[in-house]
Amino acid sequence: MAAEIISGTELARTIRAEVKKGVEELEKAVGEPPGLATILVGDNPASQSYVKMKQRAAQEVGMYSRQIDLEVDVTEDELLGWIEGLNADPAVHGILVQLPLPDHIHKPRILEAVHPAKDVDGFHPINVGRLNVGHPEVLVPCTPLGIAELLVRSGVETRGQHAVVIGRSNIVGKPMSALLLGLGRGGNATVTVTHLLTRNLAEHTRMADILIVAAGHPHLVTAGMVKPGAVVIDVGVNRVEDSTRERGYRITGDVDFEAVREVASAITPVPGGVGPMTIAMLLSNTLKAARALGVPVA
Ligand code: GUN
Repeated sequence: MAAEIISGTELARTIRAEVKKGVEELEKAVGEPPGLATILVGDNPASQSYVKMKQRAAQEVGMYSRQIDLEVDVTEDELLGWIEGLNADPAVHGILVQLPLPDHIHKPRILEAVHPAKDVDGFHPINVGRLNVGHPEVLVPCTPLGIAELLVRSGVETRGQHAVVIGRSNIVGKPMSALLLGLGRGGNATVTVTHLLTRNLAEHTRMADILIVAAGHPHLVTAGMVKPGAVVIDVGVNRVEDSTRERGYRITGDVDFEAVREVASAITPVPGGVGPMTIAMLLSNTLKAARALGVPVA
C-alpha cells in the first residue's frame, strides 16, 4: 500500500496561524510586535528567494520585519557592525544571517556575533550547547525543529524508535540527531547518524523506523534502502536539469519518492514537505525570542 503523504504545507499553515495569534496577544500586552531582521550578503538567487519568503511570512503574521541587503564584497567588520546594531535594536527580537556567506567572511565569527537570545537560527554555540544539554532556554535550528513538529503532529512515535539520520551538517543533521536523542518533543529515540562517507549506508538505513535524509544528493535513497513501514522525511532541495520546464530545472529531494512511497508507511514530498516547516519554525522561534526578551528590549 502506498505511504501516507505528510504535508508540511498544511501543518506550516496551522503553525503560522498559531504564531499570528501569539503575535497579536504579545502586541496587545506590550504595545509592539516581535521583530525579525534578515541579512543577505551578495546576490545568490536561491538565497534571495529564501530571504524574501522569510520576510513575507513574518509580515503575514504581523511581525515587524527588516531586510538588510549587503554587497558581496562587504567587509567582515562592516557585517559585524550591522549585527551589533541589530543586537542593540529593541524593535528586533530575531536576527538571521542567510547562509552561505562569501568565502572572505569567517562564518563562525559572524554566527557568534549574533546575540544568543536573538539567534532565531539556533546557530550560536550557546544555543548549540544548550540543545545538546537539554537546556529549556534554547533556540533550536528551524529545519530540525520543523521536522520534530511534523513527526509529533502527524502522530509518529519517536520514543524508543530507531531513527537514522543521513547528513551531518550544523543546520540539519547534527541538531536533528540531538533533538531525536533528547528528552523533549520528538525525542527519546535511538539515533544513528550517517553521511555520504558511511560505509554500507543501506545496511544502516534499512534498520530505520524513522529515516531522515539531509544529504543534499538527489535520489540518494532508493526503495531497497528503506525498511517496509518506515517513516521517511526528505530534507533535500536539489535543482536537477529538466528541459520540459520553462526555467530549465526542477526541484527534487534526496529520496526516490515514487519508489519509496510504495515501501514506507509515511513520507514527506519535495516540495511541500520539510521546506514550509522551516519558515514556520523561524516565525515560531522569533515569537519565542520576543516573549523571552520582553518587548521592547532596551
Ligand atoms: N541557508 C540554508 N538554510 C539556512 C537556514 O536555515 N538559515 C540560514 N540563515 N541560512 C540557511
